[in-house]
Amino acid sequence: MRPPLNPSAWKWCAGAGTVLLALLTLHGGHCGTAPADFVTQAKAECHFLNGSERVRFLLRYFYNQEELAYFDSDVGRFVPKTEFGKPDADYWNSDPAILEDARAAVERYCKHNYDVRKQDARSWKVIPKVRITPTKTMSLDHQTMLVCYVEDFYPPAINISWIKNGKEETGSVMSTEMLQNGDWTYQIHLFLETTPERGDTYVCQVEHSSLKSPITVEWKPDSSESAKSKRLTGIVGFVLGAIFITLGLIIYLKNKKGTPRIPVPQNDVA
Ligand SMILES: *[C@@H]1O[C@H](CO)[C@@H](O)[C@H](O)[C@H]1NC(C)=O
Ligand SMILES: *[C@@H]1O[C@H](CO)[C@@H](O)[C@H](O)[C@H]1NC(C)=O
Repeated sequence: MRPPLNPSAWKWCAGAGTVLLALLTLHGGHCGTAPADFVTQAKAECHFLNGSERVRFLLRYFYNQEELAYFDSDVGRFVPKTEFGKPDADYWNSDPAILEDARAAVERYCKHNYDVRKQDARSWKVIPKVRITPTKTMSLDHQTMLVCYVEDFYPPAINISWIKNGKEETGSVMSTEMLQNGDWTYQIHLFLETTPERGDTYVCQVEHSSLKSPITVEWKPDSSESAKSKRLTGIVGFVLGAIFITLGLIIYLKNKKGTPRIPVPQNDVA
């Protein structure tokens, strides 16, 4: 926090009019007790409590993160929040033009923007990204958890199902809440607890208004299939290797007994 402004100085400056005017006055050096730097903020908030049926407009003024005064459409006037904010609130409340502007904001600013955004949102669609990941290292005939990640879609209405060998799974399916990414898009994860067997086919199927036909992502327990084929390759390799070694040994031993490796000249000459 920055050091608070001397109350009497603030009052004196605020008396000049709006916050902006007060700032200009401060920079002009007429308020000798003001700190060298400070932050003023104004925040306009529209609270939509039941669509655009029930709207509350707040216009809030801050000095060094401390709220001094605000306009509240439920009250219809500026309300001081601290002693320093009172001169501002009094001044603004005494000016019919400022009050009229603030009172019109619910219709002119909040509801107007709500309608514009709603129009945009109605036609705005983002196609979900879908992928399947097993949570544990896969092996056949062991229980595992498959996760279908459905991510970055809009609007949030979506239908997701797990289909095993053409039949929808319902019993051992769990899902996260609908998670908001904070940028208007959503994600949700659907879990399936299962014991995959060789030849099984798992499908995560997603229906969404951004799609003409459902997205289907397939998963098969083929990691274990490939492990099996690797094992098979190993066995074949071992057997072949054994055969070759045996053959080589037999030939070697036969050769050793039969034709001598080192020629004996006497015999040949004779
Ligand atoms: C919200 O507004 C609708 C009219 O659009 C009304 O029927 C409904 O009762 C309101 N809900 C609440 C909780 O006030
Ligand atoms: C989800 O399924 C229901 C019932 O079949 C259907 O009425 C609805 O339109 C579907 N929603 C989406 C987003 O596809």
